[in-house]
This record gives sequence, C-alpha cells and structure tokens, in this order.
Amino acid sequence: MRSNQPVWQEDSGAWHVFRHDDVKRVLSDHESFSSQRGTTDDPSNPISASLISSDPPRHRQLRTLVSQAFTPRAIDDLAGRIEQIAADLLDALPQGDIEIDIVERLTTPLPVIVIAELLGVPSSERARFKEWSDATISGSRQLDAGEELTFSDAQREMVKYFSKMIAGRVEAPKDDLISGLVDAKVDGESLSQIDILGFCILLLVAGNETTTNLLSNALYTLHERPALWDELAEDKGLIPPFIEEVLRFRSPVQHMYRTSKHEVQLSGVTIPAGSHLVAWIGSANRDEKVYEGAEKFQIHRPARNIAFGHGIHYCLGAPLARLEAKIALEALLARYASVQIPSLADCKPVPTRLVYGFQTMPTR
Ligand code: HEM
Repeated sequence: MRSNQPVWQEDSGAWHVFRHDDVKRVLSDHESFSSQRGTTDDPSNPISASLISSDPPRHRQLRTLVSQAFTPRAIDDLAGRIEQIAADLLDALPQGDIEIDIVERLTTPLPVIVIAELLGVPSSERARFKEWSDATISGSRQLDAGEELTFSDAQREMVKYFSKMIAGRVEAPKDDLISGLVDAKVDGESLSQIDILGFCILLLVAGNETTTNLLSNALYTLHERPALWDELAEDKGLIPPFIEEVLRFRSPVQHMYRTSKHEVQLSGVTIPAGSHLVAWIGSANRDEKVYEGAEKFQIHRPARNIAFGHGIHYCLGAPLARLEAKIALEALLARYASVQIPSLADCKPVPTRLVYGFQTMPTR
C-alpha cells in the first residue's frame, strides 16, 4: 500500500494513510486534523472530553495540568516498586518445566497493578479494578470500530468509584496521582472533577493493554530469535534499544484516528474537509524510505520509531511503558535461561486491528 496506494479510501468513506511522512503529519498537524470525537461536554461520557480526544487550546491546558503530576522523574521514582511487582508476579509462577500463560500471569497484571497503585487504588480493590480494566478494553474495541465510547455496567461502577475517590482527595489529599491532579493548576485554573475522571479512565484505556502487548511482543520476538536472549542477558545495555525495535517492528498501537478540518493533500491525494482518517503507525514504522531493511528486526537503528505517536498528543505514558518493559525483561533474563513458546498456534492474537499483540501466550 505504501508504494501503490499510500492514501486509500475504504467503502465507508474513511481514508487510510500508510507512509511515514503522511502518518507523522496526520498525527501532528492539529491545524488540519482534529482529535475530537463525540461531544466534548457530555458528563456521562468523560473520555470523549479527555486529553487524547481534545484539540488546542483545551488540549494544551489539559496536557500542562496532567503533565505536572506525570513527569518522567515521577515515573523514574516508581522503578523500585515496579521491580517488586514484577518479582512478586514471577515468584508466584509454578517451578519447573510447566506451561503457563505469560499474558495472564505477567504481561497483563504488571501494567494493571502499576496503574492501580499510581492512581492510589488500594490492593483490596485490585480484583474490581482488573474487571474495570477489562471493560475498558472493550472500549478500545469500540474505538477500533470508529464508534464513540459507551459505558458498560462495570464501567459505570468504575465511574462511581473514581468520582467518590476524587471527591475524597479534594477533602483529604494523599500522596498519589489523583491528589496531584486535584492540586495541579495552570494560570490559576484547576482540572474539573470530570476532567480528572476522564483522565483516570484514559489511563486504563491507553496504558494497560498497550503495555501488555509491548511485553508480549518482546517475548514473541525473543522466542523467534533465541540467540538474542543470551545477548540481552549478557549485556543489559541492549535492552532499551531492543525495546525500541520491538515497538517499531510490532507496534502495539497500529493506528490512530483524526478528522480533517479543511481540504488537505496527502501524497497527491485530495481529502475533503470533515473526512475520517486512519493514520497507520504500524505501516509508518515499516516504511523502507525511513528504515533500511524495514522488514528485518535489527536493534540500533538511526531513525526513531513513531510507536508512541508524534506531536502534541505524543504518548504521556511512554516513559512508564518503557520502564515497565525494561524491568520485566531484566527480571525474566535474570531468572530464566530462555522463555519458550511450545506452540505458536496456541498464541491467540488480540482480535482487533487497532492493537497488535496477544491475548494468550502459553510459555515454558
Ligand atoms: C497517547 C501509544 C502506553 C497514556 C498515545 C498515543 C499513542 C500511544 C500512539 C498517541 C495518540 C494520538 O496521537 O492520538 C502507546 C503505546 C504504549 C502506551 C504503544 C505502550 C507500549 C501508555 C501508558 C500510559 C499511556 C502506560 C499511561 C499510564 C497515554 C495518554 C495519551 C497517550 C494519556 C494521550 C496524550 C495526549 O493526547 O496528549 N499513546 N501508549 N500510554 N498515551 Fe500511550
């Protein structure tokens, strides 16, 4: 598609964009492409009013506010705790040559627990939190189908829970992200409770399944290339560039949506105002014009990948996702001589085109 039909219109009318330079432009040119979906003032649907679905100037205000409570330094401070969570999850695995589903036992719970702790959800609520998190995954399926997000019963329960928690933090702040969000101010303005709620839910939608898939994709890649396991175990400095190449080669988020604000030209194709666009990050990350031998997995590439997006909506959780992946891989490399997938046929891919990864991955 990149060479023959770099901009292609499907029957439903949506325009699909495949080339690296076009994808970057669609993601970052907010004068021409809007991120808004649905109504921005519907209080029953906080995500439609959240950061990822907003345009400037509201986006800049929201981003500045949430960035205050979500700095790379604050994320680095979490390293010790993430190491402990990863160690606990690995300690709980059965000993010996026994098959387990690594998605169920490690790659799913790790990001869920990290986000729960970041938000200040007590561990007694962990089971409910996981249920809500699963319900939000159906939310990403809705996004995939180009629909507006609607709420299930579990999500309604989650909204109630977070609303109560936010009100509680207004009364009595604690040392957690929600209290930080309650406190954050730009030009004397704070976030409204509905903004904070939208942000909490966005973290679940944007931060859990994506990180799970980065980790599962990394393990799949290591299964395909057993020699790499030993190389990484010997030289831990290779782990960050390995993660970058996994992000490029198997991008967990395959595409993002935008709507054109006026008529635009992309690769010589005219796209009318008000068109829906699908910007294919997964394709851009395999563009031969940018990545030499793009179909080969090769760590240490000069060009950066765009797995976390580009421009003002660049992933706020990128430092956290990278840190979690690094810590989980370090822990696995330190404990095991290899992680093997006995039957690739038993690895079930996530059934959506939005997210690239695995629902189950039996390993030993
Ligand atoms: C935005 C990917 C993990 C929170 C984005 C965007 C991408 C992305 C492509 C850009 C969306 C756009 O341009 O419309 C990923 C991938 C992840 C990951 C591949 C894991 C490997 C996380 C985590 C969190 C997070 C762990 C939080 C805990 C966010 C937020 C935004 C975002 C809040 C919206 C930023 C904005 O609109 O300004 N992510 N993400 N993500 N991500 Fe991530």
